[in-house]
Amino acid sequence: MPTIALLPGDGIGPEVASAARRVLDAVATDLTYEEHLVGGASIDAHGTAITDEAMAAIKASDAVLLGAVGGPKWDSTDPTAVRPEQGLFRLRADLGLFANLRPVRPLPALYDASPLKRELIENTNMLIVRELTGGLYYGERGRSDGRAFDTCVYSVEEIERIARTGFEAAKTRVTSVDKANVLETSRLWREVVTALHEAEYQHIELEHQLVDSAAMRLIAAPRDFDVILTENMFGDILSDEASMLTGSLGMLPTASLGAGDGPSLFEPVHGTAPDIAGKGIANPLGMILSAALMLRHGFGRDDAAAALESAVDRALEGGIRPRDLGGTATTAETTEAVLGELK
Ligand code: IPM
Ligand code: MG
Repeated sequence: MPTIALLPGDGIGPEVASAARRVLDAVATDLTYEEHLVGGASIDAHGTAITDEAMAAIKASDAVLLGAVGGPKWDSTDPTAVRPEQGLFRLRADLGLFANLRPVRPLPALYDASPLKRELIENTNMLIVRELTGGLYYGERGRSDGRAFDTCVYSVEEIERIARTGFEAAKTRVTSVDKANVLETSRLWREVVTALHEAEYQHIELEHQLVDSAAMRLIAAPRDFDVILTENMFGDILSDEASMLTGSLGMLPTASLGAGDGPSLFEPVHGTAPDIAGKGIANPLGMILSAALMLRHGFGRDDAAAALESAVDRALEGGIRPRDLGGTATTAETTEAVLGELK
């Protein structure tokens, strides 16, 4: 029986994680779950954002499903402080999850929930391919004499493997996003992506775009994009921006994949939303859609994944709207609506 490492995390994480479990139980009865602490919850219990024991159990699992980590309780500007996000960074690094896939596909039922005009977002269907284990997130950093520094490092190998993920996922076009007019890592990025394209992916169109103008084009003409291929920090920022095309950050799922046969990690893009945590009103759909990605990418169960996704579509078409989408539905009501569509 496949084992899922379920990491609810902090804030609304536990609420959306249990919603996802209820829905998963309806489409995949053979999965078993092992819960582990990560983030602030783990700091409170063990003084570290993820323990070695949890890491070992997670490595032995078949897939990881994570809620969200972080919160004001553990926020600090002290460079030596233990931070909830360290749990996430260790998971990504130790599991080798270099490829982060963030599909952005606004649902017709939510076109009017987006602050953007319907004519702009109609038929948008893009995939953000974000490099996840390099760049500024993992470079050397520190402070001394009233100065602070972060370093951005990328190797040819790191760029090539994520570029391959991008080209393989593309239907027609890869837009590689960088800041090659300023950054040396971006110039190497551009060189490596171009070379791989020449050598192996000439049937896919490749364009390069600077991150500032890509940010603008995401809002001005989102339909133009098929795959956006980019480095860690730019991908983080652009994916929050792109989420508004779907009406809310609460809707976006993500899959983080590695190269080996270890488990992949699935989580919603949204964070812990401390302001609404514990109130039972969080939107569970990003987490439920992450569970669908897990069924598809983690277990090759395309049918169950599609059943879940279309149940979410139909529940929204039926009018269910959690608060972030302008409605009043609670987490439980939203989950029930999806379950109702699965029957
Ligand atoms: C994300 C999140 C994380 C990131 C945070 C929680 C560290 O924003 O997955 O997009 O920046 O990678
Ligand atoms: Mg982010």
